[in-house]
Amino acid sequence: MSEPIYTIDVAAGPRREAVKAWLHGLDLVSPQTREAIVTAWVSSWSSSRYRDLADMPFTPEVHGYRLMDHVNDVTQTALDLTRRASESWGLSVDFEILVPILILHDVDKPLLYIREGEGVAYSSLSRALPHGVIGAMLLKELGFHRTVVSTVATHAVNAPFHGSNPEAYLLHYADMFSADHAHIACGRTPFYRQKRS
Ligand SMILES: [Fe+2]
Ligand SMILES: [Fe+2]
Repeated sequence: MSEPIYTIDVAAGPRREAVKAWLHGLDLVSPQTREAIVTAWVSSWSSSRYRDLADMPFTPEVHGYRLMDHVNDVTQTALDLTRRASESWGLSVDFEILVPILILHDVDKPLLYIREGEGVAYSSLSRALPHGVIGAMLLKELGFHRTVVSTVATHAVNAPFHGSNPEAYLLHYADMFSADHAHIACGRTPFYRQKRS
């Protein structure tokens, strides 16, 4: 038998409580969606090598920025953008779709990046399946709406295409803004200043 990519963890306990205490935006969705979001993060954590949430890195390239901070950065930024787009342009989105996309867009990262000594490296799984697709598999298994599944699957910058739904657009700009903040905070060149060929 080969090792599973991840296992679903619905156990009550300290991990579940830590995830609930960490995530911004859980109060914006129904109790059922909230529990499914928490189960997704606990499952990724339990399937990873990380003992603490705070040890999970944002990316191997950006040393010192925590994944747990990036996730809340993205959720809060996207909610700000959503309010602006709603007030100025009349945009309407369903929070039962938008909020899980925001909170869970990077749920597979704990399985893709591993700590090696002082640094962070890519796991063997990261060379077998792309970022976003593994998260989407987990979310499909947990019964999330197909728009949540497809948007998480295709959100990465190097995905073959991006979704046409407004939630995908809001996630993209919030993710880029937050990712560039992490780059700048850690002394790296942000995406918007990187040379393009
Ligand atoms: Fe991502
Ligand atoms: Fe992200």
